Amino acid sequence: MVWNPEQYNLFTDHRLRPATDLLHQVPLNSPSVIYDLGCGTGTVASIISEHWNAAVVTGIDSSPEMLAKAKAAHPSIEWKLGDIADFSPTSKGNLIFSNAALHWLDHHETLFPHLLGQLRPGGVLAVQMPNNFNAPSHQNIYELAQSPKWIDKLGSVVRPAPVHNINWYFDMLAPLAKRVNIWETTYFQVLEGKNAVLEWTRGTALRPFLQALEAEDIASFEAEYGDRLLEAYPRRRDGSTLFPFSRLFIVVQLDDN
Ligand SMILES: C[S@@+](CC[C@H](N)C(=O)[O-])C[C@H]1O[C@@H](n2cnc3c(N)ncnc32)[C@H](O)[C@@H]1O
Repeated sequence: MVWNPEQYNLFTDHRLRPATDLLHQVPLNSPSVIYDLGCGTGTVASIISEHWNAAVVTGIDSSPEMLAKAKAAHPSIEWKLGDIADFSPTSKGNLIFSNAALHWLDHHETLFPHLLGQLRPGGVLAVQMPNNFNAPSHQNIYELAQSPKWIDKLGSVVRPAPVHNINWYFDMLAPLAKRVNIWETTYFQVLEGKNAVLEWTRGTALRPFLQALEAEDIASFEAEYGDRLLEAYPRRRDGSTLFPFSRLFIVVQLDDN
């Protein structure tokens, strides 16, 4: 999928808050080798790098567009083009951090153990993933894509919800780790704009669907979807939109030996 860094960064504050909430729960004093998987435009990696300024921080992403933005904004950090599924660094990490990226990958039953295998003893895997695939913002995309009008063009783009429930992650990770810290938070995000949720999903969940359409179909799909969003997320009295957004957090620490 082709990412648009400008569209993604429209809501930087809201997108950054869960990353800093996750960072505060990392139980390490001075990790020396840190990877940020799915680093996007690099804002989170740069915060991590400031937080532990003696560490070598490497940001990895499969999008050349996002990495170009990261490189331009933060030239002192190391940026690498790569697929998280193949992540296998020569120097294992003390910390593998991944904010809002692993839900783009399937097969978490093999992905998470694989990532734990890329850590040093005592190392930490810290992950945040959106967990709102049943929310109207997402369900309306899937319903429309599977409706008779769009199914031929978009039916195959719908994926099963990639994120499992908390018990599932805990049961998979607890036998592999010293400690598992796992929680979920719903942020009631106050957004501005005429159809703010549409603007939000244009930067993320809607992208694969728009990319599968011919230019002349995009406006029509967005209009149908946009109308549904205005009904599901009516503007408040002050003109803003409240967009509840659930996120799942997982911090796993390995044994020291
Ligand atoms: C929603 S953005 C999050 C960016 C950043 N972590 C942040 O918090 O601002 C998701 C990023 O994951 C990257 N991504 C998705 N699937 C990937 C994969 N299989 N390998 C590497 N990067 C991937 C995308 O290119 C995108 O930059």
